[in-house]
Order: sequence, then C-alpha cells, then structure tokens
Amino acid sequence: MTHSIAVIGGDGIGPDVTAEAIKLVEAAGVDISITEFDLGGERYLRDGEVLSDEALDELRKFDCILLGAVGTPEVPPGLIERGLLLKMRFELDLYINERPFVGTAPGSDQAHDFVVIRENTEGPYVGEGGVLRKGTPLEVATQGSLNTRHGVERCIRYAFDLAASRPRHHLTLVHKTNVMMFSGDLWQRTFNEVAVDYPQVETAYNHVDAAAIYFVQDPHRYDVVVTDNLFGDILTDLGGAVSGGIGLAASANLNPERTGPSMFEPVHGSAPDIAGKGVANPTAAILSAAMMLDFLGENGAAVRIREACVDPVTGSTTDVGDTIASRVRS
Ligand code: IPM
Ligand code: MN
Repeated sequence: MTHSIAVIGGDGIGPDVTAEAIKLVEAAGVDISITEFDLGGERYLRDGEVLSDEALDELRKFDCILLGAVGTPEVPPGLIERGLLLKMRFELDLYINERPFVGTAPGSDQAHDFVVIRENTEGPYVGEGGVLRKGTPLEVATQGSLNTRHGVERCIRYAFDLAASRPRHHLTLVHKTNVMMFSGDLWQRTFNEVAVDYPQVETAYNHVDAAAIYFVQDPHRYDVVVTDNLFGDILTDLGGAVSGGIGLAASANLNPERTGPSMFEPVHGSAPDIAGKGVANPTAAILSAAMMLDFLGENGAAVRIREACVDPVTGSTTDVGDTIASRVRS
C-alpha cells in the first residue's frame, strides 16, 4: 500500500533534515508518494502566503504530514508559528503532541525511557487575551489559558492508554495546581476520574517546577508524563537536552481518531544560523519519520530505523543520513 505524505521542509535547516528523513523511509522499503509544499517564512516573504484555507484543505487529503521546521528571523516572531504550525495543530485537531525520550542524562549511570504527552490544542496557545494602551505607562496585557473538560479529558485518556500499553504502567500528571487553581483543578479532577478506568496504571503528580529538577536529576522515575500545552513545550526541550540533545528529539502531532492527517516534526527549530552548512543533525527528523511509520502501521520499518539510530553517527547532514540508511538496508 502506498502512503501519501505531504512534506513541508519549511525554513532554515528544515528542508535539509526532512530530505534525510525521506531517504530513511525509502531505505526501509516503505512505499510512499511525496508531495512537497512550499510553505514557511521564505514563502511568506516572497508572496505573503502563510497557510491559506485552500492549502489546508489540500493537506487534509494526505495520510500524513512531515514537517522540517518553520521560522526565519526576517519575519516577526509568531507570524509563521501561529499562521502555519499552530493553524495545522488546531484545524487538523492534532490534540496530542507525543515526544519520546530515551537516553542517559549527563552525570547519570541509569538510562531513562519515557514519553511526554503534551496537550496540543488548548492552554495559552489559543491566544486568548489582548492589550490596552499599548506603549504607554498604563499599558495592560492579558494572556489567558483555555482548558476545556473535553480537551483535557481526551488528552489524559490518551496518556492512560499509552501508559497501560507500556511495561511499567506508570503515568505522572505535571501541572502547577498550587498556583493555577482553576485549570490545575480541572486537570487534577479529570486525571483522578479517568484513573478509575485504569486500575492497572500507577499514578503520580508533580508540580512543573519540581518536574524540571527530576527531568535533569532523576528522569528514570518517569514512564509517561501528561501535561498542558505550555508546560509540555518547556519540559520537552529539557527532555531533549537530557536525552542526547535536541538534535535527537522527535515528535508526533496526532489526531488519534484519524479524522485528518497527523503531522510529524523534530522538536528543534529552523536554526537559521546553521542553515545550508550541512552540519544539522537529521536524526530528530529521521526519528520523527519513524514515529510516522508507526502511526501508518509500518512498525517493522519504524523499529529498524530506530535501531539504526542507536549508535551515534558523526559527519555532515547527508553523511549521517547515508550511514543510518546503510544500516537500515543491511
Ligand atoms: C514546539 C515549538 C512550537 C511550540 C513553536 C515553534 C510555536 O517550540 O513545537 O515545541 O511552542 O509549540
Ligand atoms: Mn518548543
């Protein structure tokens, strides 16, 4: 069966690392058809297009979307992020952001293997708020955080399902219930209620500031972590940093009901300072493609790609892709 993949290389190192990710999918013998979409900051600077509703409707027709990175210094911060990346997350209802972390933290002698489930369509990311009297001493800015019972519950249920499927059966809720009294209470109550349906899953709770310490000093305590959009954004950069670096961190933006395509992207950004120099590590994009293959039911190919990434590779972006591809083929 041929899987149709929309590829958005995007900006900076994005196109370089996605090219290697596609190379690996092909090396693993998976049958795909690729359609490239010219989107991102460069495209915006050329003709003003970020992501039109027509382009979004085109994307809906694909089985999956593979994204490199978006954002370029010439475009005001937030414009491409909100207009392209967050628009896809919201409009395609990619409500799960799944980010696995395997490695050994610096200074530790114990390996860790955990997954962060980040809510991906709510929280502060909806952009609720506004500004008054801008630029004056009496300026007011508010920035809300949207949390719905439906949105919180479906995320927590996904995390419980995942924890139930893993050997350790352990799930930690991370929030800041001691300060975020309204949203924290909704998350904690929903977590407790859903937990009743999963007696086989052991549960824990950490405040996000404590979790930041544990991610560095004791990450092997975690199996599955579930948290809100912004806490998850911050903690997953930290997860990457303690798991061999952000150059290895993969992610999946999932619509688990498959009412549209899911989107797969490395956690890292477009790194414009090293774009085109051939020094970007494509491993995070390659491992994101492996997550895509898992989602497409190509689990054998996904496992082979992951195994081929275990032993470190050095060299240029294409060298690293070539070496991993030759491991996959042999
Ligand atoms: C990520 C990124 C995005 C986010 C940015 C680019 C909007 O940091 O995927 O983690 O904050 O979600
Ligand atoms: Mn981030």
